[in-house]
Amino acid sequence: MADLNELVEKLSAIRTSIEEDIKNVSNFKEAFEYRKVLMDSKTGKVGSLMREMGKIPGELKAEYGKRVNELKNWAQGAVDDLEKKFKEAELNLRYEKEAVDVTLPSKKHKIGNLHPNTQVRNQLVDIFGSMGFDIFEGNEIETDYYNFTALNIPADHPARDMQDTFYLSPDFLLRTQTSSGQIHVMEAQKPPIKIISPGKVFRSDDDATHSPMFSQMEGLVVDKGITLCDLKGMLDVFVEKIFGDGTKTRLRPSYFPFTEPSVEVDVSCFACHGKGCKLCKGTGWIEVLGAGVVNKKVLEDCGIDSDVYSGIAFGIGIERIAMLKYGINNIKLLFESDVRVLDQIDD
Ligand code: PHE
Repeated sequence: MADLNELVEKLSAIRTSIEEDIKNVSNFKEAFEYRKVLMDSKTGKVGSLMREMGKIPGELKAEYGKRVNELKNWAQGAVDDLEKKFKEAELNLRYEKEAVDVTLPSKKHKIGNLHPNTQVRNQLVDIFGSMGFDIFEGNEIETDYYNFTALNIPADHPARDMQDTFYLSPDFLLRTQTSSGQIHVMEAQKPPIKIISPGKVFRSDDDATHSPMFSQMEGLVVDKGITLCDLKGMLDVFVEKIFGDGTKTRLRPSYFPFTEPSVEVDVSCFACHGKGCKLCKGTGWIEVLGAGVVNKKVLEDCGIDSDVYSGIAFGIGIERIAMLKYGINNIKLLFESDVRVLDQIDD
């Protein structure tokens, strides 16, 4: 049969044909499939060579086996290299395709800010919260009793005209003041009482500085020995925190049926520091809230002994504070939700 030369030539022809084949392999999948074409033990160009062993003369078997193994190792290496080459190329292609351009400008998500009213309310809550006040959530719909009668404003009292009221029925109305919350608290709680009550109130009133719906924050302290001095001291701290250091308060006599004495509280103008400007209309002072010592009759009607306890109360207009603080001249701007306006106020 065959001699060694013939065998060696045959193997070298196989190797040449493989080298030719490889030139036509153009991607990883083909390389992977070509491995089978070479190495399959039954059909493979190289893999099946050992099956020929039976036909090889005895004295050539060892040499044949050795040469076939050499060819096998070479072929194995060749397809390994081929696979590796395509794998890398394909991976690089993918990396290129999926590459992220970190120099692209990022998408900006605009973060909104709280409404100026909410900002002021939160500031008020923080200031009074730090003085130990609890929050009471009142009702926007009230009975005549809580909004008026219990606050010492009986049916025919002229003070009812101070606040133009939206009646829902003869018995129910939209509260005109957060003071109605005072009554609920005093009916439900024994002194010591120390609450603030922020919320919406409603009055049939509409111009540049008045809106049919606006917000107030009530404050109420009832305990033994509470006087107007406590009110003044507390408000002195409050105005400095909300309008800035050095802001002073001034109490002017006023009238509210549910406080006696009653005061109107002014603050020294934080824009001109008392010199007189447009904001304070040349007076150096700006009116910010109503307050007073809780009328004994109101305490008694709520079942609190006015010989033992006394109280102070105040009512702050939240929009009014926001308008003063942020220089807003029309209250409507606070209710129109124009982001061009609201964007500018981020305190
Ligand atoms: N409720 C009064 C108002 O709306 C304000 C006020 C509250 C006055 C508490 C005195 C005490 O005008």
